[in-house]
Amino acid sequence: MSIFSDQEKKVFHLQTKHTSYIMQVVRGKYLAHVYWGKKIHTPDMENAQLNRLIGFSATTDNEDKTYSLDFVCQEYPTGCGTDFRIPAVSVLFEDGSRNLQLLYRDSRVIKGKPGLEGLPATYVESEEEADTLVLTLYDPVQQLAVELMYTAYSELDVITRSVRIINEGNRAVVLEKVLSANVDFETSEYDLITLPGAWGRERHIERTPLRSGVQSVESRRGASSHQNNPFLALAGRDTTETAGDVYAFNFVYSGNFTAGVEVDQIFKARAYMGLNDYDFSWILEPGESFQAPEVVMVYSGNGLGEMSRTFHDLYRSRLVRGRYRDEARPILANNWEATYFDFDEEKILALAKEAADLGIELFVLDDGWFGKRNSDTCSLGDWFVNEEKLPGGITGLASRIREYGIQFGLWFEPEMVSPDSDLYRSHPDWCIHVPGRERTECRNQLTLDLSRQEVRDYIVESVSCILDTADISYVKWDMNRHMTELGSAGLDSRRQKEMPHRYMLGLYEVLERVVSSHPDVLFESCSGGGGRFDPGMLYYMPQTWTSDDTDAVERLYIQYGTSLAYPVSSMGSHVSAVPNHQAARVTSLAMRGDVAMSGNFGYELDLMQMTQEEKDFVRIQIGLYKDLRTFVPSADMYRLQSPFEGNHTAWMFVSKDGMDIYAAYFQILCEVNPGIRRMRFTALDPDAVYEVLGEGGECYRGDELMEIGLVVDLHGDFQSRIWRLRKKG
Ligand code: DGJ
Repeated sequence: MSIFSDQEKKVFHLQTKHTSYIMQVVRGKYLAHVYWGKKIHTPDMENAQLNRLIGFSATTDNEDKTYSLDFVCQEYPTGCGTDFRIPAVSVLFEDGSRNLQLLYRDSRVIKGKPGLEGLPATYVESEEEADTLVLTLYDPVQQLAVELMYTAYSELDVITRSVRIINEGNRAVVLEKVLSANVDFETSEYDLITLPGAWGRERHIERTPLRSGVQSVESRRGASSHQNNPFLALAGRDTTETAGDVYAFNFVYSGNFTAGVEVDQIFKARAYMGLNDYDFSWILEPGESFQAPEVVMVYSGNGLGEMSRTFHDLYRSRLVRGRYRDEARPILANNWEATYFDFDEEKILALAKEAADLGIELFVLDDGWFGKRNSDTCSLGDWFVNEEKLPGGITGLASRIREYGIQFGLWFEPEMVSPDSDLYRSHPDWCIHVPGRERTECRNQLTLDLSRQEVRDYIVESVSCILDTADISYVKWDMNRHMTELGSAGLDSRRQKEMPHRYMLGLYEVLERVVSSHPDVLFESCSGGGGRFDPGMLYYMPQTWTSDDTDAVERLYIQYGTSLAYPVSSMGSHVSAVPNHQAARVTSLAMRGDVAMSGNFGYELDLMQMTQEEKDFVRIQIGLYKDLRTFVPSADMYRLQSPFEGNHTAWMFVSKDGMDIYAAYFQILCEVNPGIRRMRFTALDPDAVYEVLGEGGECYRGDELMEIGLVVDLHGDFQSRIWRLRKKG
């Protein structure tokens, strides 16, 4: 039982393994937030609830002039009436008013966790894993009901939230803003941690003290984006990787979002997350309901490391689905950086053969195999093979590659259309556009309007047609532009602002149809690298191409930042050529491999250009990764040194049974006459003996490895050192 509800006092207490989340209905009608943090007994509510009137705050009702919602910590504020802080919801009623008063109506507890219709969400496999509390708030004047759904996982320190709005009246209403979570904190003594970035520089960690006013991260690009990730955490000022409080939020959604904090006049902090109200509105007819996506909330009292491990455990076991949730991912070779668009069958077969000889298990043919696509100027949407390049078709190529004893995978960019394509010439209104306006292109392409059923059907059919006629065991699902000139020819003028969210619902429908009808295919999502690295996409596709930037040094920052919320089993990570195509940096093959091995490993370079010595080394890397993938993808990750704080980065993984350890240490720039550097391990059994595999077989006690550590002696720029340890006995 993870939810306790006291119907008399109207107290609701959600408990996970180590955390509590408590709410109470006050004054018989307002749903107040009481507590979120370490697991506690249900408190004395007289003591826990505060009431104070602050100057210039209006009283909540005229009968009681001592009470103002402006002061109260709330669960789902409307901003109407007497709370002047940022609202979670905004509705335009037919009478032109926006006044919404949400009063408590009822509650119910459900065993397990219901799914969210049409949306990705975390799940349970048995009802024992979680309980769900549904609190209904209601506006009696406008007859609008709001269901707040909270799930508490019993074995994971996770609470999920989502919101459903139901029009119980007899007139249509317009939803102008619907957030999925709001948490009011009594203090703003926190640092705000976010993961901003850019193409090729995704998810860098930013940490700044909260200040008065609103501070937020958002996407208005029609995708969760490279520029901001739908992740936000509030950490105590002294919180580190291993100690201190942290409250984290992650949105299970791949489109426009907003996430932020408002620090008010008495230094309380309101944290929120949900759909961005920019270019959003939704007409809700009588009897209809609107389901907002899910927010995952994690509290850790033991620092950022524990927060991340909780997210990792949840995502790899109860977000990701399908065969590859539990199965080892194949080591792949991708031809993109080897050939770009310049390939033919002979070249591809030679690369695939070389890959097979090296022990690589999957060959992926990237962009350029379809239509007339010899550059990025044409053919998106025309998903039929270019027989000039590949005379045997995809079917023939796949079976030739299979003969080498490896699997075959294929790239698609199904959400896009090139103006120079047969698809666009036949259906010029199938793209997102506003009549009479120029359709601005990005990478010479337009976005298909996935709010339309016929467009969705076209995508499902054209992708399935290829997958069903060739032996394809992997798909890279790419998406390479953001939305402009928002409009849909399939929606009437009143509903144009519904398009961005309808696009996402359409995308999720397409993904569900394609993925569920091809259960043996491994899907990797991509958006110019990590432009849609979010939990929404991971629900359909268990891994994401982390970044187009494959430079080993840049990847330290990107993979370290990404690991704040996402497990290494979700990160595509490849060894590429030097000088690196994005950063022009020259790093050793060893370092490139050591960085890439903390992810789904692969190679993305011209294997034919490698020297014999390099090929021999690649074989060693492949052997090592085959061992690592038996435990690293499901292991506990410990970040030991941050690239954002200095010249060195270190992280390690401990298998769930504590027997297997993998650790990596990286030096960015050479230090002349350096200080003493040691790798101090963590989370080992101090009394146990560990063998360092693959070297002289040295053995050390856990306490020595953790307290004294192993000397790291690195000379030169861009160096790395890895250790594979096994607990003895
Ligand atoms: C962007 C991806 O991130 C790359 O890996 C590659 O697939 C290109 N698109 C192909 O156009």
